[in-house]
Amino acid sequence: MIKDIQEKIIKLKKEKNICILAHCYQTHDILEVADFTGDSFGLAQKAAAADCDGVIMCGVRFMAETCKILSPEKRVYLPRSEAGCPMAEQLDVDMLRQLQEMYKGYKTVAYINTTAELKTLCDVCVTSSSAVDIIRKMDADKILFIPDCNLGDYVAKQIPEKQFKFVSGGCPTHARITVKEVQKAKEAHPNALVLLHPECQPAVTAMADYAGSTTGIMDFAKKSSAKEFIIGTENSIVQHLSIDCPDKMFYALSKDCFCHNMKITSITDVLHCLEGTDGEEIILPEETRIKAKVCIDEMLRLGQA
Ligand code: 13P
Ligand code: SF4
Repeated sequence: MIKDIQEKIIKLKKEKNICILAHCYQTHDILEVADFTGDSFGLAQKAAAADCDGVIMCGVRFMAETCKILSPEKRVYLPRSEAGCPMAEQLDVDMLRQLQEMYKGYKTVAYINTTAELKTLCDVCVTSSSAVDIIRKMDADKILFIPDCNLGDYVAKQIPEKQFKFVSGGCPTHARITVKEVQKAKEAHPNALVLLHPECQPAVTAMADYAGSTTGIMDFAKKSSAKEFIIGTENSIVQHLSIDCPDKMFYALSKDCFCHNMKITSITDVLHCLEGTDGEEIILPEETRIKAKVCIDEMLRLGQA
């Protein structure tokens, strides 16, 4: 059944010249039909470079918006319009304006998990895998980092020469992981390395053998000579790694590390989106798109510098 749906998707996407991009938190059956899978930074780069007429973004709304910002000539679709990132909507434009008023002289750095509207007010955009490198390269010493204070803390610790201000936002999926859960997992699997995402709380991230983006975690586990890993990010990564590396053992750090928004999209939704019977085409006002693009372009430029 799933195979039949996948075959239909592969045939249709070729006929319609549509490229399927999928974040690594999507289910394995979706990753199998995607033209590119990766973390937020990889998806942003692919969105800018993809040679096709349309893109289906299997992920959450801010990822589809990023894709549209970078590729206005392409039709960009989100298979399920309810798929949003709660963190991306924690701040609105008025709240950010107030913060910028409060912290005059600070450059605003937006985690890519923000709405297109918020990005219009930001100087530079970053992803979990690019944040340290980009902020180090920025020609500014005072940084207002929004909205994830946990990722912000992780970045600030690695760049002590710069001054940071945060707001109290974060990812509900990662922030719920506790120190106790890490201790329990380590007791249960004493030979395993702990790999986790810097969206976790600082005390949790401090217990990691490796902290990085979803792609960073997967690459680390694949290249490592270790055989056992405790994974502290969305639990789909445990499933993908178990399939990709059958000779290694992967344990979920927390059974609750599940992003409902990332999991709303099913393989059937992808097919319906391709068939044109469901899904939302992302439309952004041109003024918003152009202003929001400035901080993403700056990320891509500094990333290459
Ligand atoms: P990365 O893809 O940058 O690792 O981010 C994880 C995430 O939570 C995306 O919403
Ligand atoms: Fe947003 Fe967290 Fe879900 Fe990523 S995992 S989409 S940051 S809620």
